[in-house]
Amino acid sequence: MGRMYERKDAWYRQAKKEGYRSRAAYKLAQIAGKEKAVRAGDRVIDAGAAPGGWSQLLLELVGKRGRVAAVDLLPMDPLPGDNFRFWRRDLSDPALPAELAAFLGGRADVVLSDAAPNTTGSAFTDQARSAELVRTVFALARETLKDGGTFLAKIFGGADGDAVFAELKPFFRELRRIRPEATRKGSFELYVLGKGFKGD
Ligand SMILES: C[S@@+](CC[C@H](N)C(=O)[O-])C[C@H]1O[C@@H](n2cnc3c(N)ncnc32)[C@H](O)[C@@H]1O
Repeated sequence: MGRMYERKDAWYRQAKKEGYRSRAAYKLAQIAGKEKAVRAGDRVIDAGAAPGGWSQLLLELVGKRGRVAAVDLLPMDPLPGDNFRFWRRDLSDPALPAELAAFLGGRADVVLSDAAPNTTGSAFTDQARSAELVRTVFALARETLKDGGTFLAKIFGGADGDAVFAELKPFFRELRRIRPEATRKGSFELYVLGKGFKGD
């Protein structure tokens, strides 16, 4: 995904200047600011976390009393603090939920995912893969998110995205699609935000 974020647009330059590892950090900053999705002291799972821009911002938002558990297939440079840990794993790894919960000291207040498939150029394939990835992340969230918790996941728009949205809807008090301003023009990507997780 690295290359995707290396285009030298204004958000990229701002990210470099402010020391964030990705321009994606601004998308989360906009959502988190507007939606109050992450609070001081929260225990958070960052799914699809490399190179680490979201994790950097999350550590600022949760503060010393909070915890951030990050997962990615790709390696990620370490971040400071014993309230942060990184797992280099596939999000579908069945061993993950227990390990994340052990580190967090219980279920998460928030499960976030900026995970995206490698794009192929075929909108049809990319949308289907993105939808499948959100299903994978939601399966992880069902095992790790507390009742009443918040879920945020990137998804590509289209019919597959709509289908996933409908699948998730019964599990949340409120489920919405949002498109942060820092999203690149012409991009299909959206985020689904679920508040008030109902559990099983
Ligand atoms: C857009 S990048 C995330 C950027 C990150 N939020 C940041 O601010 O630095 C998407 C990431 O999702 C990861 N990813 C995609 N599928 C995954 C999977 N099945 N398991 C773990 N990570 C995955 C990719 O390796 C990639 O690093």
